[in-house]
Amino acid sequence: MANDQEKEAAARASLRFIRDGQVVGLGTGSTAAFFIRLLGEQVRDGLRIRGIPTSVRSKELALSLGIPLTTLEECQEIAVTVDGADEVDPELRLIKGGGGALLREKVVASATRQLVIVADATKRVPVLGKFPLPVEVIQFAQALVAKRIAALGAEVRLRAESGIPFVTDENNHILDCHFGEIPDADGLARQLSDMPGVVEHGLFIGMVSTALFAKGSEVVELHR
Ligand code: 5RP
Repeated sequence: MANDQEKEAAARASLRFIRDGQVVGLGTGSTAAFFIRLLGEQVRDGLRIRGIPTSVRSKELALSLGIPLTTLEECQEIAVTVDGADEVDPELRLIKGGGGALLREKVVASATRQLVIVADATKRVPVLGKFPLPVEVIQFAQALVAKRIAALGAEVRLRAESGIPFVTDENNHILDCHFGEIPDADGLARQLSDMPGVVEHGLFIGMVSTALFAKGSEVVELHR
């Protein structure tokens, strides 16, 4: 079972990728939050970095810790981003978006030289797809997109709580798409990207440099 100690251990292991003077992407989710808190301690001890958060949540956390921030307006090159994931396959392809921040996360990842994923070992899977794939859609198109994704073999659910749809930081909705196993993640990623109304999907392919998985007190490091 994943626990907070493992999340923190993975987050701690990522600190050695951060150097003074860098622009650092700040991921979203409970494991990324451990990283942001640890980074905050280093900033307090004198580390000089500027962060680009991937969500309003992570921005608020970073500000509360006194981490200096910048924006993609000011800076379009990010040295390192540390983020979590919902699933990671042997080729370091990911499913992300369980926390609803996949759009900004992917934009930040795309501007990043070194994307470091931090996770507990339960996130390692042989094949992606057990975790429902989040797809961010414009509200206008959500029923149409849901029908098209269902035709690809998924059970599609609009993310909602007590009947109220979840709204992303970019004011869109999320469809959670239960595929079971995704035998061709690259092909599915292309099909979803080609669907009008889809803003972004949670398959992150060819983006990760390093993944750090914690199990107990041990951290396994994989590179691509
Ligand atoms: C948010 C994400 C998160 O990184 C992902 O859901 C993992 O979160 P956690 O570390 O809490 O398990 O993609 O959109």
